[in-house]
Amino acid sequence: MTKIDNPAATGVDEGIVHAEGTSWVATEVVDYLSRRTASREAAFFIRHLAPGMSILDCGCGPGSITVELAQIVSPGLVAGIDREPAQIANAKRRTLSADVLNTDFRVGNVYEIPYPDASFDAVLAHAVLQHLSEPIRALKEIHRVLKPNGLIGLREEDRNGDVIYPMTPILQEAHALTMRLWQQVGGDPYFPSRYREALREAGFIQVEMSASCEYCSNPNDTRAWAATISHFLEEAELADLILELGWADRPTLEAMVSAYKEWGEHPDAFWAETWCEAVGRKGHT
Ligand SMILES: C[S@@+](CC[C@H](N)C(=O)[O-])C[C@H]1O[C@@H](n2cnc3c(N)ncnc32)[C@H](O)[C@@H]1O
Repeated sequence: MTKIDNPAATGVDEGIVHAEGTSWVATEVVDYLSRRTASREAAFFIRHLAPGMSILDCGCGPGSITVELAQIVSPGLVAGIDREPAQIANAKRRTLSADVLNTDFRVGNVYEIPYPDASFDAVLAHAVLQHLSEPIRALKEIHRVLKPNGLIGLREEDRNGDVIYPMTPILQEAHALTMRLWQQVGGDPYFPSRYREALREAGFIQVEMSASCEYCSNPNDTRAWAATISHFLEEAELADLILELGWADRPTLEAMVSAYKEWGEHPDAFWAETWCEAVGRKGHT
């Protein structure tokens, strides 16, 4: 990370340059992502799938969605790419232990997908685009690897749709800081509500948007959520970035992490999120 001239006074600080995105390989984060399934998280997408189709899961993470996609379209091939080698290793382990063989996992960047033009019948990007600084560029690259009439599926939570109880001033501050940090590292937690516009801009047609709600309301779920979100304030590089930006001092940061964790243990804790979903198609030519 480098400090350059002209730091902005509020919002994203353009004077600090950070590599795009955050890392998703910490144990608590991988555990949280590994709970996801295609039938629950990607229900809006899998109803368009059939055996024999070829699928790409972009930013597949630990592969818990990918493995079920492979079961659904078998004997069709399901490819998974992720820029983190550790995620690809996780995904390979998961599919092997589930005896799923119709997969091809590769370390790769969604901006330069390591497959030729018109390779796939359908592409899913679940919880990925909101972490990118150039989501339209990524959508255009996905468009390239889709076959004519191929399907794209997107799903992510838009952070304008969060419901959190019980809310305390420190938790509110922590949440606002987390969203600001998210934008600082190049993502946009409010991108998903713009799916229709973004897909149209990237050349997709027949775009249909929907939404679903996810929530946690039992101690296992609230604890896991709190561990995941507070990790981003605890992780050394991100904590250093917050301190360097002067957005919080170390004791405040520690108090915020404790507030998330206390919330996770609260007997009445409740968290709900609005997940935006979209499907669209590449044209026939
Ligand atoms: C929030 S996780 C979602 C993982 C998985 N899709 C899921 O929903 O469980 C985001 C994933 O996208 C990956 N990622 C972020 N930027 C990427 C990029 N430019 N190219 C490929 N993968 C990327 C991260 O490494 C991470 O595994």
